[in-house]
Amino acid sequence: RGKRAFIAGVADDNGYGWAIAKSLAAAGAEIIVGTWVPALNIFESSLRRGKFDESRVLPDGSLMEITKVYPMDAVFDCPEDVPEDVKTNKRYAGSSNWTVQEVVECVKKDFGSIDILVHSLANGPEVSKPLLETSRNGYLAALSASSYSFVSLLKNFLPIMNPGGASISLTYIASERIIPGYGGGMSSAKAALESDTRVLAFEAGRKHKVRVNTISAGPLRSRAAKAIGFIDMMIDYSLANAPLQKELSAEEVGNAAAFLASPMSSAITGAVVYVDNGLNAMAVGV
Ligand code: NAI
Repeated sequence: RGKRAFIAGVADDNGYGWAIAKSLAAAGAEIIVGTWVPALNIFESSLRRGKFDESRVLPDGSLMEITKVYPMDAVFDCPEDVPEDVKTNKRYAGSSNWTVQEVVECVKKDFGSIDILVHSLANGPEVSKPLLETSRNGYLAALSASSYSFVSLLKNFLPIMNPGGASISLTYIASERIIPGYGGGMSSAKAALESDTRVLAFEAGRKHKVRVNTISAGPLRSRAAKAIGFIDMMIDYSLANAPLQKELSAEEVGNAAAFLASPMSSAITGAVVYVDNGLNAMAVGV
């Protein structure tokens, strides 16, 4: 049987989640995705209308199939956590079962189990503010959406993950080195995600034989990255300074994720794997 992957954080064909889905599909995995509730309608209608067909093409010429799209909001664990204004918001009211626990229950009902969990989502409402100007709420919201969301997904999926399974998240070097402009507590959120990768590797490894790794990815012009506002500068900086002078493609991150999800990496867990043209290894700009 082929492996089944749940990819959280796909809402268009520009981000890392989409590229990881493609690499996993090319390797023979069945793809199911979790899409942020407010982005669900546009994503599903674009899929249906064929807007992504060009980017669905796999190396063998076939089109990537997404077996099912689940609405999801990873900042809520169960219905009791959802405040009234969100519940009645018209972008949410049209969908149901989108808290983490409910999504996992639905996946269990529909498919029974998964082998691969990918977390490719982040959100920091105050990302454009320096840390010194970040509010407590903004900071906690960044951690909730970008770090605890992974703990919650893994914790809820583990009981239906097959032994030998793997999970992968996406992080950024701003967690360990200063990147001015990556504010709002997002640098803190990535530091937490990386630390949690180690602790969760131990807990999920001992208890469920599941591996936990994170990819520290170089800059990509995704929807989320464009919203931060400095992505072109980061891409130019990498081109000028990284050991490998080429623009990083999402596919390169997708392929690394496929490796980390496969038995080829069966002894790798608790790792931060850099997929950034080597930029992390530089101490100075050139
Ligand atoms: P993206 O915009 O394709 O993906 C972010 C996704 O998160 C979107 O689909 C959005 O709808 C979803 N999302 C936001 N809040 C959510 C919530 N509460 N519940 C469920 N989904 C939610 O952008 P990108 O850049 O591909 O981001 C994927 C991951 O890659 C993120 O963790 C990001 O921090 C990381 N990353 C991105 C880099 C870049 O330069 N683009 C560099 C290094 C890491």
